[in-house]
Amino acid sequence: MALAFVGAASSGDFPEPARLPIKAGLPDPLVMFNGKRVTTKEQWVNERRPELKKLFEHYMYGTAPAAPKVNAKVERVDAKALAGKATLKEITLTFAGIDGPKIHLLLVVPNKRKGPAPVFVGMNFCGNHAVLDDPKIHLNTNWIYPNQKGVKNNRATESSRGAQIDVWNIEETIDRGYAVATFYSGDIDPDRADMREGVQQYFKGKHDWSTIAAWAWGYSRVIDYFVTDPDIDAARIIAVGHSRLGKTALLAGAFDDRIAVVIPHQAGCGGSGPSRAIGNKGAESVKRINTSFPHWFNARFKDFNEEPERLPFDQHCLIAMCAPRPVLLSNAVEDKWANPDGQFELLRAADPVYRLVGKTGLGATKMPPVGKLLDSTLGFYIRDGKHSMNREDWRAFLGFADKHLKTK
Ligand code: GCU
Repeated sequence: MALAFVGAASSGDFPEPARLPIKAGLPDPLVMFNGKRVTTKEQWVNERRPELKKLFEHYMYGTAPAAPKVNAKVERVDAKALAGKATLKEITLTFAGIDGPKIHLLLVVPNKRKGPAPVFVGMNFCGNHAVLDDPKIHLNTNWIYPNQKGVKNNRATESSRGAQIDVWNIEETIDRGYAVATFYSGDIDPDRADMREGVQQYFKGKHDWSTIAAWAWGYSRVIDYFVTDPDIDAARIIAVGHSRLGKTALLAGAFDDRIAVVIPHQAGCGGSGPSRAIGNKGAESVKRINTSFPHWFNARFKDFNEEPERLPFDQHCLIAMCAPRPVLLSNAVEDKWANPDGQFELLRAADPVYRLVGKTGLGATKMPPVGKLLDSTLGFYIRDGKHSMNREDWRAFLGFADKHLKTK
């Protein structure tokens, strides 16, 4: 993506948050920081989108370093996984010049396919060994959330194997013709406010990048690997993630054009939900997320705790950065914390950008009924129930991917 942009200063020159004007409603994504209106696709691509990237880096996520060379070591291949339906590979990704975190990537590819497979890529919450029942899968040795099944003293034990089979639904996804790639978020940055053990410390220089930016950078490093793997169709990469990892999937999609379809699931505040108080009562606020998870965003984002209305963008601008690529926001009725109503408002506000770049955006003015997928380029799905990722959600993800990637 072009880094040069017209009409705005470099990120260091953006004003202090207290000097930004208050905008109660969602800022117009088609107006530049200097007030100039964006009227053509070229202006959007060459000026506004790069400017938004700088703004999000400066005020919210921090700036990730450029990609190092990614080295891939295939550790194990099982050509007869899932009763012969799939080939399972375990691959270790390391970064040239960095003696630090490694990504343990699990890649499962359908054996029945014509040519390279489209792929869902997503981070998981407790290690690859939890997503399938396979005693040979690398048991993650990093710090892991204490509330995950089979985790003792923040480390995985053998009894955590297969704990997330229903969350990942890999077999059905394979049956539908898609590959699945997953890795543990803690491989890049264990999610701790009190201890910084992540990849960030290995990069010298001025990189104020948050945990969510580091995780998104991890998605991009996996994609660096995909483009070298003949089993994978690099033109059909779908980024998926649940909750904090959905926030990450959206950031990865907004910043990395190689992602063809973006599916942030129940991502909410700091991701697919507004920073401003728009949408469901009781939804998570900027102040609350910055207090509970100070490491997810950069230091400057805390300056918006009391007045998120000073943000020169809202999260519809992050969604719009994905245009013309399809984005599905998926939700659950009882998960008001993730602000489904506010998310739908964001799709409405991102829609003019999609139309400017020549795509129909949101195909409805109202939220679809519960359980019915709205599969327009800007898509929406809400099911009954709570905050979780399950097989029903995957059926919506698969339906959306089938529609937009024309996979039979
Ligand atoms: C917390 C947090 C949310 C986040 C969620 C999750 O509830 O407040 O922002 O999405 O955890 O990641 O499950």
